[in-house]
Amino acid sequence: MTTGTAAADWTVVDEGWGRRAVDFATLSEPANCREYVALHHRLGIGERDLVLDIACGAGLAVELARARGARCAGIDASGRLVAVARDRSPDSDLRVGDMHALPWADGSFDVVTSFRGVWGTTPAALGEIHRVLVPGGRVGLTVWGHLKQSPGVWALQPFRLASTAKVANQANMVSLGRPGAGEELLSRFGFVEVERISIPFAWEFPDPEGYARALAATGPAYEAIQHVGETEFFEAAVAQARERVREGLPLRAEIAVSGYLARKAS
Ligand SMILES: C[S@@+](CC[C@H](N)C(=O)[O-])C[C@H]1O[C@@H](n2cnc3c(N)ncnc32)[C@H](O)[C@@H]1O
Repeated sequence: MTTGTAAADWTVVDEGWGRRAVDFATLSEPANCREYVALHHRLGIGERDLVLDIACGAGLAVELARARGARCAGIDASGRLVAVARDRSPDSDLRVGDMHALPWADGSFDVVTSFRGVWGTTPAALGEIHRVLVPGGRVGLTVWGHLKQSPGVWALQPFRLASTAKVANQANMVSLGRPGAGEELLSRFGFVEVERISIPFAWEFPDPEGYARALAATGPAYEAIQHVGETEFFEAAVAQARERVREGLPLRAEIAVSGYLARKAS
């Protein structure tokens, strides 16, 4: 399994997420920038904060939190993505590891974020987030929202070329976006003042080939590539995107993303 995984198999995540770390960092992750800016703003991240980003990927969100003056830490299961994150933020505490067993002491952080990194299939990570926050500490998570109603859902369609079992797992992963699901989970793990917010999210790419290359660098794309092969995945992604080309404008996929804000009780 190469996407959000249970504690037992986190060490294989790098196989999918890390194999094209440079493409992910430069072609895919930057397209998420609206999400990072919006959540950091709503959390009021600033100079007084020590921030942990969970499933930090190649660390663009960490770099942007540092730009707001925060001191930062991050963790991701992919060693090759963490190598990029360290290159971007050499003064931050960036570690390779599992979100279900965070290698920091209780009460270490003022703020914990995760950008589509905590899933319906990884609920126990919420317990770890609660543990490492100071009393009164803030958490901000983003999750995919109502994908079928998103105008840009076409951009995720090639993931469905994965095996039936993997596609079923992808559906379980995005379950935290359902009405009430994230609120229930955060409350169950002791968080208070839980609020759901809407997060701006739009991927933009120069052309169908650029989109296909960016998408191919992600973990769920690797699951599809394992099933149908590189060539079929690439051709399907390019064909999907060709229908969306607009003269003189970028390829743009607006996708529903929800955010959760909450606090650890003081
Ligand atoms: C959808 S990506 C999100 C990455 C990044 N937050 C971003 O905004 O692009 C999911 C990330 O979760 C990481 N991941 C998957 N399972 C993990 C685990 N058990 N512990 C830590 N990170 C994990 C992957 O390596 C990948 O970077």
